[in-house]
Amino acid sequence: MKVLIFGASGFIGFPAAQALVRAGHTVYGQTRSEEKYQRLQAEEIIPIVCDPESDAWHSLVPTLDVVIEALGGTAIKQVVAASVREAVASATQRFRPSHAPKLTYIYTSGCWVHGDNRSEIVTDTTPIIKPVELVAWRPDQEQAVITHPALNGIVVRPVMLYGKSGSIFASVFKRAHEESKVTWPGTPGGKLSLIHADDLADLYVRMAEGAAIAGGKIFDAGNDILEDMDAFLKKLSQIAGLDGKYEYTKPTNLFEVALGATVLARPYLGRALLGWQPKKIGLTDGLEIYYKAYLASR
Ligand SMILES: NC(=O)c1ccc[n+]([C@@H]2O[C@H](COP(=O)([O-])OP(=O)(O)OC[C@H]3O[C@@H](n4cnc5c(N)ncnc54)[C@H](OP(=O)(O)O)[C@@H]3O)[C@@H](O)[C@H]2O)c1
Ligand SMILES: *[C@@H]1O[C@H](CO)[C@@H](O)[C@H](O)[C@H]1NC(C)=O
Repeated sequence: MKVLIFGASGFIGFPAAQALVRAGHTVYGQTRSEEKYQRLQAEEIIPIVCDPESDAWHSLVPTLDVVIEALGGTAIKQVVAASVREAVASATQRFRPSHAPKLTYIYTSGCWVHGDNRSEIVTDTTPIIKPVELVAWRPDQEQAVITHPALNGIVVRPVMLYGKSGSIFASVFKRAHEESKVTWPGTPGGKLSLIHADDLADLYVRMAEGAAIAGGKIFDAGNDILEDMDAFLKKLSQIAGLDGKYEYTKPTNLFEVALGATVLARPYLGRALLGWQPKKIGLTDGLEIYYKAYLASR
């Protein structure tokens, strides 16, 4: 297959691109950065250096099988997500013959759309009622993708990522290392729903290759076991030489409110339809490895 990944240098996009290359596919990786060009090329990913909203990638559309959107950062909200989605849709209509199969479009959402709830377990197919405020715009984007008339739309909702350079956990690791403090926004008693970047990458391969059955569906992506927030913070504090001490802080912005949210995710659809099974050691059990990986990646 030929796959184009928006955000190919990202925490999610890069391992997904590597996994697709390993699975034998031709992978084009969009990045805005000339610096990341070589990092992609060294991994046999064909770099496309451009803004995602430019038309520099349009010439690829005639022969593509799958597009993956995994853009990140605080600037990527509704407007950019919709603009990239519609640019891909209109490029398929302009550049592909009308008999061509619909181009598969995999949009990366996130499990915070399920909202903060410490008592109710949610699955891939649980109705979305009250998303965390930071991502209140996302359910509309998800629906626009899976019901798109011109695209074979698929949505993946990763829970919180861990491993490698740390992603969301980078800041708590950094504070532990540099300020000798372990803190987390929110209140005690929360749970962590987690997925390693490499396990998530394997799901992207399966969604891309299984697009004929995955189309029109939303896949939550998380480990089988939820982890205890307090146990994680205590172990991190011990590993960082801080006597197991940690504290909770009052969230100061919508991102921190989201970090303090508990989503009791019990995904089943990726396992049932695509044979996906996460394999990595959990965050707390493997914390010495993951903390060192973060330190080494800086
Ligand atoms: N990380 C998690 O724990 C997590 C969990 C659930 C859902 N998600 C979702 O997954 C998606 C990807 O997350 P991520 O953690 O992989 O993101 P990321 O690593 O922070 O960013 C991915 C890429 O987006 C590009 N980018 C950043 N700002 C941009 C801008 N203003 N315009 C265009 N491109 C920009 C960057 O590529 P270049 O600089 O190379 O252009 C970056 O490498 C996001 O929608 C996020 O909400 C993430
Ligand atoms: C958790 O979800 C249940 C079921 O939807 C709901 O009745 C309850 O009010 C929710 N709790 C919170 C704190 O939102």
